[in-house]
Amino acid sequence: MLHDPNRVYVFDTTLRDGEQVPGCQLTTPEKIEIARELEALGVDIIEAGFPASSPGDFQSVVEIAKAVTNPTICALTRAHKGDIDAAVEALKYAKRPRIHTGIGSSDMHIKTKFNSTREEILERAVEAVKYAKKSVEDIEFYAEDAGRADIEYLAKMVEAVIGAGATVVNIPDTNGYCLPDQYGSKIRFLKENVKNIDKAIISVHCHNDLGLATANSVAGLQNGARQIEGTINGIGERAGNTSIEEVVMILKTHQSLGLHTNINTQSFYELSRMISTQMRMPVQPNKAIVGSNAFAHSSGIHQDGFLKNRENYEIIRPEDVGFPSATIVLTARSGRHALKYHLDRLGHTLGKEELATVYQNFLKLADNKLDIDDTDLLSLVAHRLVKQ
Ligand code: KIV
Ligand code: ZN
Repeated sequence: MLHDPNRVYVFDTTLRDGEQVPGCQLTTPEKIEIARELEALGVDIIEAGFPASSPGDFQSVVEIAKAVTNPTICALTRAHKGDIDAAVEALKYAKRPRIHTGIGSSDMHIKTKFNSTREEILERAVEAVKYAKKSVEDIEFYAEDAGRADIEYLAKMVEAVIGAGATVVNIPDTNGYCLPDQYGSKIRFLKENVKNIDKAIISVHCHNDLGLATANSVAGLQNGARQIEGTINGIGERAGNTSIEEVVMILKTHQSLGLHTNINTQSFYELSRMISTQMRMPVQPNKAIVGSNAFAHSSGIHQDGFLKNRENYEIIRPEDVGFPSATIVLTARSGRHALKYHLDRLGHTLGKEELATVYQNFLKLADNKLDIDDTDLLSLVAHRLVKQ
């Protein structure tokens, strides 16, 4: 099958990296429900869990593999035979199984986590891939802490695991350490220097410790990666993972990048709310794409420009991400144009002078009340002839 060079595969790890967050644990039925929604969203790969980590996680991977058939179902392992055996067993009902195995690649991890050497770790990486490949065709290898790894060593590791049969090579910025140009250059280096790199897809897996997960993921894609790993709402360890909705909407908004995904973006808002509720993790109001204020216009200058032409202040249409609609929020910073918009909506088209009077009374009210609702507006209209 010919591979579309501009297609970006979306790998969702909400149920694995996302679910590791304290307080976000889910039951198996909840995970199945989310997995079904991720399938409807159009993700290509669902990382369903880490089967060796607990009997509950093992069972969740089994049940998700039975319930969801379109995406590839992936299970995480360390570079241990026991972990790989558990993953193979848990994936036995998956139509398209993938094993995601790997090991640390930075000197920090090699020395202080594994008390080992670069040579030994390289051997363990290759052994793990070869072992997993005996049971499953699709093997993704992760080079943990690649963001801080020596690039020559990382290239050697990536080359060796592709030689051992890895179909996808994941270059995680595990600690969210890299700057976008550093991370992009790493991916470019691998693309240009690893023998047989085109036999595998390069995947980006970024964490958000410095708020750069999305920027780093996009830099990786611009430099040759073709799989992006992340979670809905950016949920994940510490400051979280890359938000899938952000990367997908960046690719859609910046078509000049020439990259595309298979995601039904209209499902983002509803799925974001569902995951927030089930994982007991509120979405910050100013969160890009899915925050409650993402399409709310509140200052007079913005409202005026928006009402003249929404594209003045809207680079994404709310309906494209399933957001109910843009809102014009009335505050003491709002102008007459916004007030008129709401009064017209309520069926009160006022003349210039009446509007000016109501506007003055509205400002007095808005200075003392955070939330101006339709009842307030109707009351202002009803009392417009009464001096306040
Ligand atoms: O952040 C990371 O390095 C990971 C790996 C296990 C893929 O989550
Ligand atoms: Zn991670």
